[in-house]
Amino acid sequence: MNLPTRVKLVEVGPRDGLQNERQPVPAPIKIELVHRLQAAGLKDIEVTSFVSPKWVPQMGDAALVMAGITRLAGVRYSVLTPNLQGFAAAALTKPDEIVVFGAASEVFSQKNINCSIAESIARFAPVVAAARAAGISVRGAMSCAVGCPYEGDIAPARVGYLAGLMRAIGVQHVGVADTIGTGTPLKVQRAVEATLQHYDLDSISGHFHDTYGQALANTLICLQMGIWQFDASVAGLGGCPYARGATGNVATEDVVYLLHGMGIDTGIDQDKLIDAGQFISNFLQRPTQSRAGRALLNRRGA
Ligand code: HMG
Ligand code: MG
Repeated sequence: MNLPTRVKLVEVGPRDGLQNERQPVPAPIKIELVHRLQAAGLKDIEVTSFVSPKWVPQMGDAALVMAGITRLAGVRYSVLTPNLQGFAAAALTKPDEIVVFGAASEVFSQKNINCSIAESIARFAPVVAAARAAGISVRGAMSCAVGCPYEGDIAPARVGYLAGLMRAIGVQHVGVADTIGTGTPLKVQRAVEATLQHYDLDSISGHFHDTYGQALANTLICLQMGIWQFDASVAGLGGCPYARGATGNVATEDVVYLLHGMGIDTGIDQDKLIDAGQFISNFLQRPTQSRAGRALLNRRGA
């Protein structure tokens, strides 16, 4: 096994984690969450989305949240931008990276961003060009890379097709996303292999929702393939409003436990991360979804 010695985690809790919350989460809480996450050593934080507030009301305060965070040197702050309107608003807040989000499933693309895959690429192209001209990095999320809530299993060739389209418009890095968490390791491996036809190992990350409890197994197979970048969400928050039944992302605390247990460095302070998870879980008035987080909290109490 040729495992990486260091892994980069992109914390998506403030964005993916909170976008699906029904109760409004005030901007100061989101800002405090970002501050706690960076204090725990997270160097990549997906802060918010510049999407239509009619589609995702919870992200309607994107500009306010971006303006309110105290930035730390060495931390990369990213935001989602589905179109030029979102990019224009995002650019004013000076993100380090933007994320365009497409789907390997045609129906999910329609449900999530109201256009076909081909139309989405046509929309993303000027966004990518504008971002790169402004010196902003561009990541692409590839939703439903394994399964789709509407179409079921997604063939790896469709992931390869999307990755090729993303590459052609200048997207620098892509995330293989298991939006609904139905993926199992060999299916994820095939989706990553299809992506590898267009991107190298250093330009691919894993984004696994944990609906069926497979996210750590999916992370492990990616590590074995040499992938060293993953998205994760503190306290296991998350879900996409347009992917019915999908639950949270893999909990950052669980991934950190896995990686540190394997001697893989993340630069993250697990204790402080758990505190960040408790902060947002207390606000939401529900226990953390992180198994490692719960176990370590119990150990603290004992
Ligand atoms: P549309 O209705 O086709 O857009 O939505 P439109 O261009 O026809 O505009 C309609 C209205 O939306 C107009 O306002 C625009 O101004 C406004 P009106 O004139 O009616 O008052 N609008 C915007 N407002 C603010 N920011 C914008 C924006 N664009 C248009 N950027 C659109 C198309 C893409 C906007 C919409 O479908 C949308 O916002 N979708 C976002 C859905 C979303 O955020 N989903 C969750 C994130 S993706 C995810 O979670 C998956 C991921 O985690 C990976 C994984 O797990 O798979 C990344
Ligand atoms: Mg997601």
